[in-house]
Formats: sequence, C-alpha cells, structure tokens
Amino acid sequence: TGKFSYDPGFMSTASCDSTITYIDGDKGELLYRGYPIEQLAVNCDFMDTSHLLLKGDLPSAAEKKEFVGLVKKHTMLHEQMQFFFRGFRRDAHPMSVLVGTVGALASFYHDALDISDAHHRELSAIRLIAKMPTLVAMSYKYSVGHPFVYPRNDLSYTANFMHMMFSTPSEEYRINDVLVRALDRILILHADHEQNASTSTVRLAGSSGANPFGCIAAGIACLWGPAHGGANEAALNMLKEIGSIERIPEFIKKAKDKDSGFRLMGFGHRVYKNFDPRAKLMRETCYEVLNELGLHDDPLFKLAMELERIALEDDYFVSRKLYPNVDFYSGIVQSALGIPVQLFTGIFAMARTIGWVAQWNEMISDPDQKIGRPRQLFVGETHRDVQIKR
Ligand code: CMC
Repeated sequence: TGKFSYDPGFMSTASCDSTITYIDGDKGELLYRGYPIEQLAVNCDFMDTSHLLLKGDLPSAAEKKEFVGLVKKHTMLHEQMQFFFRGFRRDAHPMSVLVGTVGALASFYHDALDISDAHHRELSAIRLIAKMPTLVAMSYKYSVGHPFVYPRNDLSYTANFMHMMFSTPSEEYRINDVLVRALDRILILHADHEQNASTSTVRLAGSSGANPFGCIAAGIACLWGPAHGGANEAALNMLKEIGSIERIPEFIKKAKDKDSGFRLMGFGHRVYKNFDPRAKLMRETCYEVLNELGLHDDPLFKLAMELERIALEDDYFVSRKLYPNVDFYSGIVQSALGIPVQLFTGIFAMARTIGWVAQWNEMISDPDQKIGRPRQLFVGETHRDVQIKR
C-alpha cells in the first residue's frame, strides 16, 4: 500500500529500544548489560545475572544478600495451587501445565494488576523468578506421581531447584557442586536473548497493560514451539534417532534435502551467523558434567561432536552460516543431570523468566510506550456484496 513496510518474520524491523542485551550475530558476541556472556558464565551465578538483567548492574555483596533473601522469601506457592495442578492429566506436557499455572498466579496477587507502580512491578518480577523453580519441579513431580517437595531456603537458587526435583520424602537428594554449577550455567546462558519470539510475545502481550503473570504465560506458550525453546528436546531426540556415528551422513543428506522437511535440530540461528557463543560454553559444561559422572565415553556426546564436525565441513551448512546453537549440547547436559526430556523447555522457561520480566519492566517504565499493533498487507477479497443463491 505504500503506507507501511512489509516484513514477515520481522527480519529487519526493530520493535523497541532496549538497554538489556546486545547481540552481534556476525561476531558471535552476546552481552548482558555490557558484560560478555563468557565472563558472566565463569564469574557469576544466576542470581548475580538476574540482578544484572532486572536492575541494570551486578550486585555488591550487600545487594546480592538482599536480592537473594527477597527471592527466597517468595519461593513458596499458595497451597491452593496444588489443586490447580491436580486438575491436569498426569501425562500433560509440563509446558502446558506451566502456561496454566503461571497465568493462574495472577489470581493470587492482586497488587500485580497495578503495573503503574514500580514497586509492584519489581515484586511481581521477584515472585516470578522465585516461584518458577517451584512450579517447574512440581510439574515434574506431578508427571511422575511423586509428592511435591517444598523449597529449602538454606540452599542456593539452583541447588534448591535440584532438591525440589530429585528429593523424595524417603531420600534427600545429595547436592553435587559440579552438577549445580552446570545447571546454573544453563540458566545464565538462557537468561535473556533480546527480542526473540517469546520475549517479543511478552512485550506485545504486556503492551496492552496486561498483568505480568499473564504476559509470562504468553511467553511460555511461544517458547514451547520446536523452532524456539523446544529445540533442545528436538535436538536430543534427533541425536537418539541418528543413534550411531555411521548414520550421520544419511541425516546430513536428509537435512540438505528441502523436500524431506527435516532440519538438523540445534543448528542455525536467526541472529548468529558466525557461531553461537553459548554453544561453546555449553559444550565445555557438557564435557565437565559427563566427566564428573564418569560418562566421558557417552555415545550421544561423541555423536554430537562428530555431527558438528561433519556439518561444519559441509558446503551446505558453511555457505548458509549454520552453526550449532546453545540447544545442541544443552539437552545432553540436562539428560546427564537426570532431567527428563519433556522438561527441557520448562528449564529454559525457568531461565528465561528473568529476561522476560526485565524486558517487560523496561517496556512499562518507558513513558513513550505504546500498544503493539502491527499492520498487515491485505491480500484477500477487498469488497463484495452478499448474494445468497438459494
Ligand atoms: N538444518 C538444515 N537447514 C537449515 C537449518 C537446519 N537446522 N536451519 C536453516 N536451514 C537452511 C534453510 O533451509 C534455509 O535454506 P535456503 O536458504 O536454501 O532456503 C537457510 O538455512 C536459512 O534458514 P531460515 O529458516 O531462513 O533461517 P531463519 O533465520 O528463519 O531460522 C532457525 C532460524 C533457528 C529457526 C533455523 O535455523 C532452524 O529451524 N533451526 C533448527 C531449530 C533450532 O535449532 N532452533 C533453536 C534456535 S536457538 C534457541 C532459541 O532461540 O530458542
């Protein structure tokens, strides 16, 4: 029409300005509030990262104590939430349980509806990051028929999550620092990724003034898709399907054939066209975890490394700048930690919640914020008169 530009998939449209996350896809660079992901992954934990994303800077020792204390204060769920869980079928996908239960939190915290108050917004953000591990662990416990495990506030954020996942009334999960650190790193690496599909969903939902719990539920629904957060599940399933190093060429051939409908899962990225810096860190963590568990000969890890090597020597992948993304290795790590495949995207949602709320808060704090309302190129019938032939 000439009045607006047409940009399907938002390949070249910026939807906002933001100070949170910077990505240079050609250089393979990812910065949270200016700090390189490689430095954050080595020197910080997920609580430092959450403080950084939400408040703009890394916390001092005193600020961290206060922040962690506040998060711990909100790890419990209202007891009534248990009944909500029990309404789901036992075999419900944890992501559908999370979409429902996170959205339902809005019915418990009426102050969250007043999003014009910065204190209320921060409290909602804290509640969300504090309760997500409890909800994710409960969705797992429910699916296996185990009793829910209450949070333990003497443990770190990530250790507490592993406790709620793996402890039972008859046996307390034994915390292993290497494994806790690995999961913590997964959380750091997935914490934010600027205007990806789920974050844009959260912003669009929030642009109408909707409550933050509803907005994050919308983000979770979007993240569930296989082209986004579902990729780690899909990548692990693909590795299992390939099964042996000898079968790699067959799958590479299939991935190159457009008619096959098959893609190498965990490969390619809309923004990274050199490498995904998170994938390198994830590969390193994968190695550490398998070593710690005495699984250095893990056939899936060997298969993944070989698949990466073969693909990166293939013209098809090289010319299209397709590299392994963070999800290529994260599935192997999570599986080694004992996390079932159907919960992988739930872990991603738990990590990304801080990014979503930080982005939502940034948007709402902007005095010039407008409701998101894309236009369309109408290509259907323009005008016709009703003429019913009887
Ligand atoms: N295997 C085979 N071919 C591929 C792949 C792949 N994984 N990814 C892209 N291509 C091809 C695609 O067919 C196209 O070829 P051509 O130019 O000949 O038509 C070209 O590469 C460009 O692909 P595209 O689909 O236009 O690129 P995009 O930026 O729209 O898609 C993507 C990015 C991540 C959706 C895509 O690479 C993909 O489907 N990857 C597999 C799923 C995956 O791993 N997703 C996780 C993304 S990272 C985590 C997250 O952000 O949630």
